[in-house]
Amino acid sequence: MYKQKEIVLSGIRPTGFLHLGNYFGAMRNYVRMQEEYECYFFVADWHSLTTHPDTKELKQSVLRVVAENIAAGINPQKACLYAQSTVPEIAELYLLLNMLAYKGELEKTVTFKDKVRLQPENVNAGLLTYPVLQAADILIHRSKYVPVGKDQEQHLEMARNFAQRFNYRYGDVFPEPQAFNYGSDLVKVPSLDGSGKMSKSENQMVTLYLADDDDLIRKKVMKAKTDSGPTEPGTEMPEYIKNLFLLMSLVSDESTISLFKQQYNNASIRYGDMKKALADDMVKFISPIRERANNLLDDTASLQKIIKDGGEKARISAQKTIEAVREKLGVNYY
Ligand code: ADP
Ligand code: TRP
Repeated sequence: MYKQKEIVLSGIRPTGFLHLGNYFGAMRNYVRMQEEYECYFFVADWHSLTTHPDTKELKQSVLRVVAENIAAGINPQKACLYAQSTVPEIAELYLLLNMLAYKGELEKTVTFKDKVRLQPENVNAGLLTYPVLQAADILIHRSKYVPVGKDQEQHLEMARNFAQRFNYRYGDVFPEPQAFNYGSDLVKVPSLDGSGKMSKSENQMVTLYLADDDDLIRKKVMKAKTDSGPTEPGTEMPEYIKNLFLLMSLVSDESTISLFKQQYNNASIRYGDMKKALADDMVKFISPIRERANNLLDDTASLQKIIKDGGEKARISAQKTIEAVREKLGVNYY
């Protein structure tokens, strides 16, 4: 018998250039999942307004996120790729879920508390209800799996709570969505100085972006923090050197990694050589993605068509859910 594919959804906010962390933490999973599941991947443009109210660069950022996702391997024929704001059903569901979300639990959300600290002058209601909109994003397609990083687990738990409350009060419509990753694939990509993680906006010199040109990639890698090296075999590896090996494990082949590991272990390693090898492999990894993304960005009309088609496809699924929701609520009058 034909078995319906399970539904997967994830989103990325268009708040800056995508980086290696986004690739290995999120997009690599998307690429694999599109072969096995019914996938919806979207650009969370409404969500970005909670922290980035200035929309001067928004359109270009949305186009870039779409281009970089395709360049990284998302096939818009296989996965539905769209912009959140082109699916108004999400806003309707968000409104309804807001009645099932309590001020107290929203105020306790870790990401909300972080943002309040970061932008005390703009604690808007959208920021407070961010997890409700995220739940609407997920539940609008009755998604089951949500490939995201660890930082998103609390939001997923809230989405499950809102889904349960709706189902309990009005009748079953939603499955309970779960965060998803492929086994040990979930990595936190460290910044080049080992002080934190690569991210869209902070620490641009210690983050490798998919748009960085070859010289900039080399420059950033060569500046990565090291020291004068181990003086005797068996020395414990400092955190920032472990990070360099972690980065190497993402892009270099086994023989390169084991060569430098061996050199570390017998205290003969020269970090300059290691960083040079890492820089070469980073360039090899990033440059084809960058070139594909730039080519796609040169053709705005095609990207717009992908966003339009994706939105139309997403709306078909969203409308089905909204119809079921209205019926359960009893707000279907004719
Ligand atoms: P950023 O933190 O750079 O703004 P987002 O919050 O938009 O990135 O995250 C988009 C996706 O990329 C999420 O699933 C998140 O878990 C993942 N991600 C972001 N940074 C990293 C990182 N350094 N390592 C692994 N995954 C990451
Ligand atoms: N909050 C997510 C992040 O910062 C982005 C996002 C918005 C999302 N809506 C979503 C992720 C729905 C997964 C599912 O990374």
